[in-house]
Amino acid sequence: MNLFNLRRQPAPVVDEAPLPAEPVDPLSRECLMPATQRAEQLFVRGQGSWLWDSEGRAFLDFTQGNAVNSLGHSPKALVQALSGQAQALINSGAGFHNREQLKLVNLLCQRTGSDQAYLLNSGAEACEGAIKLARKWGQLHRNGAYHIITASLGSHGRSLGALSASDPLPCNRCEPGLPGFSKVPFNDLAALHAAVDSRTVAIMLEPIQGEAGVIPATRHYLKGVERLCRELGILLILDEVQTGMGRCGALLAEETYGVRADILTLGKGLGGGVPIAALLARGSACCAEPGELEGSHHGNALMSAAGLAVLETVLENGFFEQVRDAGWHLRDGLSRLAGRYGLGEVRGQGLLWGLELPEPLAAEVVRAALLEGLLLNAPQPDVLRFSPALTVSHGNIDEMLLRLARAFARVNTAQLSRQRRS
Ligand SMILES: Cc1ncc(COP(=O)(O)O)c(C=O)c1O
Repeated sequence: MNLFNLRRQPAPVVDEAPLPAEPVDPLSRECLMPATQRAEQLFVRGQGSWLWDSEGRAFLDFTQGNAVNSLGHSPKALVQALSGQAQALINSGAGFHNREQLKLVNLLCQRTGSDQAYLLNSGAEACEGAIKLARKWGQLHRNGAYHIITASLGSHGRSLGALSASDPLPCNRCEPGLPGFSKVPFNDLAALHAAVDSRTVAIMLEPIQGEAGVIPATRHYLKGVERLCRELGILLILDEVQTGMGRCGALLAEETYGVRADILTLGKGLGGGVPIAALLARGSACCAEPGELEGSHHGNALMSAAGLAVLETVLENGFFEQVRDAGWHLRDGLSRLAGRYGLGEVRGQGLLWGLELPEPLAAEVVRAALLEGLLLNAPQPDVLRFSPALTVSHGNIDEMLLRLARAFARVNTAQLSRQRRS
């Protein structure tokens, strides 16, 4: 065969001009990967505890992006920090220092009693960092041990490693996951003790299991876990992505339990709505070396400025007292509703509360609440979660309780008419 004769066919001559493209709806949802369930509304503006959709309807937000917007929507401190920083320096590059990154890690270390901190982009990534740090520590101090014990129903994020540390979620986990994890029932010290062996390097827990339905560790349990880690010479990792940054009425939930972890993760509330997370380490857990945790956006000046603004705000005098006070007001109101509607347990701390329902109707209540202009979420089929802005007022809590009562009434009416029809 003569290869020189193998010419490309000339492109066919097209007579017709290309058809004009269909007008594209710039707000079409077709191109958005269905990565999560979303309500229909299109939100355009937020202020404090309120969000407005494109139709001008106001919604009282008691999820705040699942406990992310710690200071509420568009708080002044965050807006000022972001706009000032955006004009000065957005990104120095991960290979260089910037002032905001250094200020934030210094303040985090100082106020949490940690020795080192590292800034990342998401809670899952911080948990991945914690897993890597523990494995590195195992190489250095425990004959290469790398197993990490986590808790049933625990949730540490959706990246592959963090997902492997989490209990099966109702989703495709794209197995195989990362090896080296075992799960034991939460709040069961004996089960934890029985699971530790020579391969174990760390125990990793949430002080309050948020996604499991706001299940607090008992004080006896968390104190016992800490003692076990000290006795056996393994690390305690506390995932405070949801519970940290004042959410539980103190900078870290560990303080309220009187325990001290070797490695801690922060995320969600740290940026007040801006994606930033932190990995904190104490003592010999400070074993990371250059190249082991790197990421292009880590310690980005803009994000660090946001984290710093939020941290400085929650550290202001009286802030945590006010979170605890608002939290008790919310708990009391939820308990009254629970009594009136024959609901289950109200549990949580600070401004992170779960309300148990006697039936798996939480998603239906969330939809009914949306019709009442109230944003809530349902981490479990029978649990509603409340994670308002840490700055929420008593007035907003009272308004939320009114709207929630109306949502329950809607669900009850729908249930009655279903019963009548069947
Ligand atoms: C305790 C805990 N850890 C980690 C994560 C993951 O955080 P992110 O969604 O920022 O990756 C979450 C998220 O809900 C969480 O609640």
